[in-house]
Amino acid sequence: MEETILILDFGSQYTQLIARRVRELNVYCEIHPFNHIPEINAHVKGVILSGSPFSVRGDDVPNPELNGIRKELPILGVCYGAQLLAQQEGGLVAPSEIREYGRANLAFIHRDSKLMNGVNDGSQVWMSHGDTILELPEHFEVISSTHDVEVAGYKIKGEETYGIQFHPEVYHTTEGAVLLRNYVVDICACTQSWTPDSFIETSIASLQEKLGNEKVVLGLSGGVDSSVAAELLHRAIGDNLYCIFVDNGLLRKNEFGKVLDSYKGLGLNVKGVDVKERFYEALAGISEPEDKRKAIGRTFIEVFDEEAHKIKDVKWLAQGTIYPDVIESISVKGPSATIKSHHNVGGLPDVMKLKIIEPLNSLFKDEVRKIGRALAMPADILNRHPFPGPGLGIRIIGDITPEKIRILQDVDDLFIEGLKNYGLYDEVWQALAVLLPVQTVGVMGDERTYENVVVLRAVGSTDGMTADWSHLPYEFLSKVSNDIINRVKGVNRVVYDISSKPPSTIEWE
Ligand code: XMP
Repeated sequence: MEETILILDFGSQYTQLIARRVRELNVYCEIHPFNHIPEINAHVKGVILSGSPFSVRGDDVPNPELNGIRKELPILGVCYGAQLLAQQEGGLVAPSEIREYGRANLAFIHRDSKLMNGVNDGSQVWMSHGDTILELPEHFEVISSTHDVEVAGYKIKGEETYGIQFHPEVYHTTEGAVLLRNYVVDICACTQSWTPDSFIETSIASLQEKLGNEKVVLGLSGGVDSSVAAELLHRAIGDNLYCIFVDNGLLRKNEFGKVLDSYKGLGLNVKGVDVKERFYEALAGISEPEDKRKAIGRTFIEVFDEEAHKIKDVKWLAQGTIYPDVIESISVKGPSATIKSHHNVGGLPDVMKLKIIEPLNSLFKDEVRKIGRALAMPADILNRHPFPGPGLGIRIIGDITPEKIRILQDVDDLFIEGLKNYGLYDEVWQALAVLLPVQTVGVMGDERTYENVVVLRAVGSTDGMTADWSHLPYEFLSKVSNDIINRVKGVNRVVYDISSKPPSTIEWE
């Protein structure tokens, strides 16, 4: 176990960002809901209390007992966390008279404060709160103020407990990283030894210990998470890891062969299962998006289950689950929390009665990529755009036929290869093509045509929850449009999607 900072989540939209900032300092941290504080062992070096959409003045708001932690470990309360500590000790928290939202500058910094060490006078901070700390208890001292907020930061005398009302984790707090470093390194005495290499080393050892000689099955998708999970497990248990890569007939053009080859190049014990026809049969005549997703999901589970049963004595099912999925399922839901719909083909674990192993379930997506790089995995696997489980099945509007798949694969291939050739692939977060069930009139040579419309879509995003359409160069769009119409039989019109999410979604179905 490595040194850990615990982050108690009170439901703030920024909680995950705090975790990422701490990890950027090469210090491991975990988020736990405020009402499920884990046992504090010797590895825990400090505790951060997050912000919250609640007000400490409300009834029935998060108010955990912190006695087992206070004075034992350094604490940093952020926003709600700071107000809660102040109120618990007899301070006065009241609604702010002036709006405390947005940028502010530190007008006073206590120069002896370890937390504020190296933070410059006038430094910009980000405020986002409806309440403010009006009076501090006697045994508290102010360590920073802004023009409008006297208690921007405080310390409880005689203990390493700090509170700040601004958010050090957001980008707009320009010296937030200095402050977090002061807390994590100087106050909590963490050694900053959590690196991709150390993660790989400890993961391999713990996978070996847990799995021993038992066999593990894993479904590869071609995506980053399942691929990195496979490589890590492979390093730990070698050919006792059985990988299954299913060709559902809804992958990109030539993707099955290419990806299978690169897995084999990595030395993985992988079996490619070509069951295109089975998926096409299951999908025949279905046009409704959710019905298509269900048919694809069901068929995948059947195929995977059959294949797994062919592996004698397999005991474990490995999955590429990452930390945001874990946090999502345990997180504190504030009054304004949005409901995220879960897309992934679920249900495997229930059907298979295998023990579950998730080697990446403590990592954020960018950390998974870093681990992949440290494992020397090929860049084309690590930098691949996200691709949905139901694949092209949800990019053909209406029912699916092999001919429509052929058209869409050709269009998509010209678009994606074009992005790569123009050096644009890594600039966009996800790019895709959609085949519409719409014919339009065109003219080719002297002939009138009546053929399909395709849509190109490219978006920028960080996690797929929100997205902006990408402003691809006209010159590029014009070239790709020409290529598609000239080369793909059955298409005579190309349009570019300029909708953002929300209100649109990234996929069309
Ligand atoms: P939307 O269309 O909801 O997509 O804006 C957000 C992200 O999720 C992907 N997506 C899916 N992934 N199964 C998946 O594994 C699905 O059914 C599914 N639907 C959407 C989408 O590609 C985008 O990255």
